[in-house]
Amino acid sequence: MSDSEPSSTPPGKGAAPEAGPPARDPAAFYAELVMSLDARRAELSAAEQSFGANRTLAREELLEWLYFQCWYELESAKFIGSWLYSTPEPEAFAGLCRQIADESRHYAIIAAHIRTLGGSMEGWAPEPEWVRWIQEFYAREGSDTLERMGAHNITGEIGAMNAFAGLLPRVPESTRAVLERITPDEQFHVSLGRAVVHRYAVTAEAQQRIERRAWQAFEHEQKGRLAFERRLSRLGPGARRGPGLSPRQRVAARAPARPARGWRCRRAVERPRAGPSTPTGAGTGQPSPARGSGSPRRTRGSVVRERR
Ligand SMILES: [Fe+2]
Ligand SMILES: [Fe+2]
Repeated sequence: MSDSEPSSTPPGKGAAPEAGPPARDPAAFYAELVMSLDARRAELSAAEQSFGANRTLAREELLEWLYFQCWYELESAKFIGSWLYSTPEPEAFAGLCRQIADESRHYAIIAAHIRTLGGSMEGWAPEPEWVRWIQEFYAREGSDTLERMGAHNITGEIGAMNAFAGLLPRVPESTRAVLERITPDEQFHVSLGRAVVHRYAVTAEAQQRIERRAWQAFEHEQKGRLAFERRLSRLGPGARRGPGLSPRQRVAARAPARPARGWRCRRAVERPRAGPSTPTGAGTGQPSPARGSGSPRRTRGSVVRERR
């Protein structure tokens, strides 16, 4: 395993225990935290569990969600980039570099999809709860890698996967294709958070800080989803019924998702894997290497992007 690969072996294992309450095993700590978040999510109202409260989204509603998601992808690329100066952990640094590239690609994919559906981000502004949640809490309030990733790569990324799963049956085929294209990257982001917790959350104090941030993120997430409902309610019942898609947009909505304009994509040559190309072993406790850190550059399903 290279230095840049996440490893779940705590660096201080075997050393004399520190004073204070005993730490839980980091893997058990992570698993219990995720289980508690899942259990809490299951108790929530439909509006808090997913965007658009379990109904097929009308065109305007779908666009509203895409605007939010597009902005969130862009913001996450920015705030994760801002963390890098103060990310001394090599595995986290390498993984976050990949995550920035992923989020910026998701931004481009969703922006292209919005254009395909005839929408535009022009004049769009986030709700105050989204600013507080994403531009302040995630972006600026974590004091170190564990606090930042405890909030975003545990609660935030699992929440995003959860939202995608809730939306999949309620969106057009082309939007489904977009979500399915993005999801493997989000799984990597979840497993990056898990690998960092396994390796570095070795004291009770670190585990308490991660837990506190994860639950704070959860509260912001619920407020953010309720703010989305409020935004939809402002659209009014007319927008919910809406004029629907034009015939041309209906065809585009059924078509497979296309890459962002200005980028040429081609499937990479498939080569044997040296290991999992995306550490998607959520729930397995097994971290996997960051992309580009010792694994083949091109793997199944990877896309090589070139500027036209
Ligand atoms: Fe993303
Ligand atoms: Fe992500």
